[in-house]
Amino acid sequence: MSDELKDKHGTTGHEWDGIEELNTPLPRWWLYTFYATIVWGVIYTILYPAWPLVNQATSGLLGFSTRAQVEQEITAMAETNAAINQQLVDSDLTQIAADPELNQFAVSSGGAVFRTWCAQCHGSGAAGAVGYPNLLDDDWLWGGDIEEIHYTVTHGIRNEEDADARYSQMPAFGADGLLDQPQIRRVVNYVMSLSGEPQDPTLVAPGAPIFAENCASCHGDDGTGDRDQGAPDLTDAIWLYGGDFDTLMQTVTNSRFGVMPAWSERLTEAQIRAVSVYVHGLGGGE
Ligand code: HEC
Ligand code: HEC
Repeated sequence: MSDELKDKHGTTGHEWDGIEELNTPLPRWWLYTFYATIVWGVIYTILYPAWPLVNQATSGLLGFSTRAQVEQEITAMAETNAAINQQLVDSDLTQIAADPELNQFAVSSGGAVFRTWCAQCHGSGAAGAVGYPNLLDDDWLWGGDIEEIHYTVTHGIRNEEDADARYSQMPAFGADGLLDQPQIRRVVNYVMSLSGEPQDPTLVAPGAPIFAENCASCHGDDGTGDRDQGAPDLTDAIWLYGGDFDTLMQTVTNSRFGVMPAWSERLTEAQIRAVSVYVHGLGGGE
């Protein structure tokens, strides 16, 4: 075989230890395929974005861009959902759950909104974290019916961007010198007694009047909280920041100031309604 080829095409003249390099041409089919890929490559770089320049690549004659394609798909999606989104906006909030089709749409699109915009603070499963409330339980700071949830999501909490944001501020009793350390220790032990955390019984009774005087106006005489002020229930052993002695000392000494952004500028009314329905349906909705 190789002798036959050698006779036909000769060698390149290279030879090593008796092994000669034949000058066999490339098969035609291979060569033409190769030329075709070059032609294809040139045409492709003319039609599609290809050559990198300083700030961006050449855009190509067809004007194709993946970004434009995504935008197109999003627009198409929005058009498909326009009618039902409008229905969501026009419905009475309290009636959405009663309409199975609308409710299902709200829950699934609201779930997507939640995973995109809310999960980083409230957790992907909405179970919350220290300082970020669990939205699965029926313990609500500001209110758990659909209208209250909708208000909270629309305006946010203690932010500076929305004048209608929910607002309240617990005084920093220690830092601002309203109570001294022994008084704070007493009232903290009293608070621990409310929810059954282990506490020093000798400090509980002296803590009660301090609570009545300084804390009851927001947290209630019995410590069960006040939703108008977003003041948490201190009797239920559900803690936003923590119910151990050290954390409570921190909270009462320095106070907290949990902030949630307002969503009215970032999300559409349909998205806000959808995510409110989603949160309301998580299990704790009232
Ligand atoms: C930057 C963090 C952050 C993001 C993002 C965020 N939240 Fe919040 N959210 C908070 C904090 C902090 C609170 C509690 C504030 C307080 O102490 O009253 C809160 C409270 C809430 C409450 C009130 C709970 C109650 O018990 O009354 C609801 C409802 C809520 N968030 C829903 C949402 C939804 C829906 C989204 C997404 C659209 C979202 N949050 C995004 C931080 C966030
Ligand atoms: C002006 C209203 C107000 C007063 C007065 C007040 N609080 Fe609060 N308290 C709040 C609010 C609002 C929160 C929610 C936390 C935040 O600001 O993010 C809170 C949170 C707490 C928490 C955290 C609960 C948790 O789940 O982690 C504790 C504990 C607490 N307060 C104890 C007290 C004690 C003790 C006093 C009295 C010495 C007091 N508060 C007085 C409004 C008040």
